[in-house]
Amino acid sequence: MIELANTLLVRYTPRTGSRTARLVDHALERLGGPVAELDLAVTEPELFDSRRIDAYTQRNYGGQPLDADQAAAMAQMDAFTQQVIDARQVVLAFPVYNFSVPGAVKAWIDAVVQKNRTWTINGGNYTGLMQGRRALVIATAGGPLSGDFAHLDHAVSLARKQFEFMGFDRTDTVLAERINAEPDKADDALAAARRSIAAVIDTWNSAD
Ligand SMILES: Cc1cc2nc3c(=O)[nH]c(=O)nc-3n(C[C@H](O)[C@H](O)[C@H](O)COP(=O)(O)O)c2cc1C
Repeated sequence: MIELANTLLVRYTPRTGSRTARLVDHALERLGGPVAELDLAVTEPELFDSRRIDAYTQRNYGGQPLDADQAAAMAQMDAFTQQVIDARQVVLAFPVYNFSVPGAVKAWIDAVVQKNRTWTINGGNYTGLMQGRRALVIATAGGPLSGDFAHLDHAVSLARKQFEFMGFDRTDTVLAERINAEPDKADDALAAARRSIAAVIDTWNSAD
């Protein structure tokens, strides 16, 4: 059994008055134990430029070591990946932008979904390496993204898929949707999201 104590909170809630941030506050109140926080609006995630994608391919696919310049270029991506490896649970929170995760969140995903670090290929099969961990995705959306509108969701479904791909034991998702489209019901949607967040974290706490 892996001994992992920490919660990693990865958030992108840059808007003044962010309603996603309020849901994060609620999660923080509920979480026990140490929480490492990565705010992607403060620490901007680096992208795969030519240097980084070549270094990543050379090391993670080719098994070749990096030189000092290449290692420096990969340092932030590797530090983000180590945070996931060191965590027992990851909370990822963002507003839906243009049917998907905000670009900063996608850059974080591209940093941490690293071959031979968080996933690998075993006998020709993709295999996650992050067993023993659990994730909670918290998102808000102005319009509808579930039920008859599920085909519009490339945000929560994408985030869930990445954690599943990395082998997390359990991934829960909480979406407060329609909060701009139906403003009179927004408070109810956010209150329901707070209850769902509490229920997930209570399940985590009681499983420990
Ligand atoms: C740039 C941008 C793009 C957005 N795209 C979508 C979208 O595709 N679908 C949707 O339902 N809401 C969309 N919204 C609405 C936000 O998801 C919604 O207002 C969210 O609750 C904002 O979260 P915040 O209060 O944490 O900033 C968009 C908002 C912005 C600012």
